[in-house]
Amino acid sequence: MKPRHFLSLFDLSPAELQQVLRRAQELKAQHRRGESYAPFPQKVLGMIFEKASTRTRISFEAGMAQLGGSAIFLSPRDTQLGRGEPIEDTARVLSSMVDVVMIRTFEHAKVERFAAYSTAPVINGLTDFNHPCQLLADLQTLIEHRGSDIRGQTVAWIGDGNNMCNSYISAAIMCDLQLRIAVPPGYEPDAELLKQAAGRVVLLRDPRAAARDADMVATDVWASMGREEEQSRRMQDFAHFQVDAEVMAQAKPDAIFLHCLPAHRGEEVSAEVIDGPQSRVWDEAENRLHAQKALIEFLLLDGDKSA
Ligand code: CP
Ligand code: NVA
Repeated sequence: MKPRHFLSLFDLSPAELQQVLRRAQELKAQHRRGESYAPFPQKVLGMIFEKASTRTRISFEAGMAQLGGSAIFLSPRDTQLGRGEPIEDTARVLSSMVDVVMIRTFEHAKVERFAAYSTAPVINGLTDFNHPCQLLADLQTLIEHRGSDIRGQTVAWIGDGNNMCNSYISAAIMCDLQLRIAVPPGYEPDAELLKQAAGRVVLLRDPRAAARDADMVATDVWASMGREEEQSRRMQDFAHFQVDAEVMAQAKPDAIFLHCLPAHRGEEVSAEVIDGPQSRVWDEAENRLHAQKALIEFLLLDGDKSA
């Protein structure tokens, strides 16, 4: 039987996505009550990180431990991947020994190639193209603050048309959100996704117009991992794309602000906004833990069902 993978939000049906998000809320409440839930003793998660991480690594590692299993951190520096062992061979070997795999890398095609050869479910922990695990946490946070039915909510994305922006487009399609994207010319998100989202996504150049009457405003760094050498050019190109108090003032008075973190105060977001009363970034970061536990549970149990 082919395992279920989670390389993008589209790997779940809209109903399955809602199921995972509901389960994430239950697991969070259970965790808060101090109740142990460890249904996966001896299950092992293999984690390949070709880029840096704080939240993704900690949430997967802690999540697996809380579920009764364990996680192994693998980097190209100290595995044969860094010495040129093909990803397909690594996929066959790693998935013969662990129960679920998470990969953070550069090219999205690499995660797809890994998944094609893996006998265990593969989770995308961020590629240059998307970051679907972050969207599970972001959607969970939106639900916490806006109620379980988020259909029709207006989300403003301001800044770079990057992996997070692409993921928000997928979320708009899956959850029936209205997404307003404000990016500078030349930094547009994936054209195919935009086409697919027609009717749900509007592309603008003015951050204030994007934020108008929004229920939520989100942004991300101007230079993603792998783009560090473009930082100074991007500082100029994005100079008018900071989420500041003026931008937030365009949104609904009770709108929330999200940022996947790490953040650069004074660049994509002012300190006043990220550290202010509308910011929900700490809930968002914590929700990585609960949402991914729900995802792991879904993938492992779904795998059992189809075995
Ligand atoms: N948001 C996020 O994925 O954070 P890390 O890069 O720290 O994992
Ligand atoms: N867009 C950012 C997200 C980090 C979690 C990056 O890819 O670096």
